[in-house]
Amino acid sequence: MTLACVADFREAARRRLPRVLFDYIDGGSYAETTLAANVADLESLKLRQRVLRDVSRLSMTTEVFGQSLSMPVILAPVGLGGMYARRGEVQAARAAKAAGLPFCLSTVGVCEIGEVAAGASPPWFQLYMIRDRAFMADVLAAARERACPVLVFTVDLPTPGARYRDARNGMIATSLGARLRQAADGLAHPGWLFDVQFGGGPHTLGNVAKAAGDLRTLGQFWGWIGRNFDPSVTWRDIAWVRERWSGPIVLKGVLDQEDAREAVRSGVEGIVVSNHGGRQLDGAASSISALPAIAQAVGGDLVVLMDGGVRSGLDVLKALAAGARACLIGRAWAWALGARGEAGVAQMLAILRQELRMAMSLTGCTDVRSAGAELLDG
Ligand code: FNR
Repeated sequence: MTLACVADFREAARRRLPRVLFDYIDGGSYAETTLAANVADLESLKLRQRVLRDVSRLSMTTEVFGQSLSMPVILAPVGLGGMYARRGEVQAARAAKAAGLPFCLSTVGVCEIGEVAAGASPPWFQLYMIRDRAFMADVLAAARERACPVLVFTVDLPTPGARYRDARNGMIATSLGARLRQAADGLAHPGWLFDVQFGGGPHTLGNVAKAAGDLRTLGQFWGWIGRNFDPSVTWRDIAWVRERWSGPIVLKGVLDQEDAREAVRSGVEGIVVSNHGGRQLDGAASSISALPAIAQAVGGDLVVLMDGGVRSGLDVLKALAAGARACLIGRAWAWALGARGEAGVAQMLAILRQELRMAMSLTGCTDVRSAGAELLDG
């Protein structure tokens, strides 16, 4: 199948991956209204078409925390990447590096920091707070030793959101029947089976393997998260993280202006306006609708990033116009990885770049660093 846009990668991933994995990537929490709103609200923003403005030279380069990005896009932390393709996080990080973009490694990635650093380059590292603080200190030390340039501290998952698709697919409580269905589903996807299941091990959570041990099933993975993620985290814990991390800290999952102001007071360097891709609090505002007010409130004090629903280069420009310095993409790269591995991620990023170039040309925006509300209609 010819892959022309992000939606095509989604379809290709649906065909290649077992259902339990495709649904894990694709789905959101509860009735998925926030997931849908992330996409729909971006779609409904109108760009202003402008003409005759000499768009022969366009600059897509921007800077985030002293790092040059070839376009304002960052690969978001996505758990279990090594289940979508063999050593998936390394493959995606390589594609990001070749494209001149940062890759952010999830705490619950399959590949550990060292493997990604050696196979591509030191990734941004995403932190979930786990109850065992001594172990967390070790994880942060590992990220420091591997020279991870940025720490992304995800704060919107004190407890996992209820995801009906995962429950239905036996991802949470794995009964014998569900395991048999999953085995049959694996057999029905031989491309994935040989690449990942037989050829892509070990299938541990590399960064937390010491604490989590051997998690053999997806149900065990969820059980461990439920038992070990720390719901008692507060703003005071930022100081605990800061003592162990002198580089930039980005709080991911801020959706409220008050919290954004609190983030400034806590001394972090950036925030991601995010609802975890609609995977946590269903009924929460879409990221793009929350972004302008937050950017206005704190954009002068810290770096404002956003994610949720970005599916094209047009969406990237809309996010910038609404106040973001850059946006993160989650599902777009996970689908591309599941569909075609590293080559798929590279191709998808090239498509986003081409779409962004076109959007800039037709809105008369010659430099992403100056993109603002004037690009939007109404
Ligand atoms: C995520 N996300 C996420 N976030 C995080 O901080 N740590 C994680 O481990 C994960 N895991 C994860 C798995 C999968 C399959 C998805 C789709 C998402 C959230 C992610 O970083 C990002 O916020 C959203 O994906 C953004 O929305 P879009 O781009 O997927 O619409």
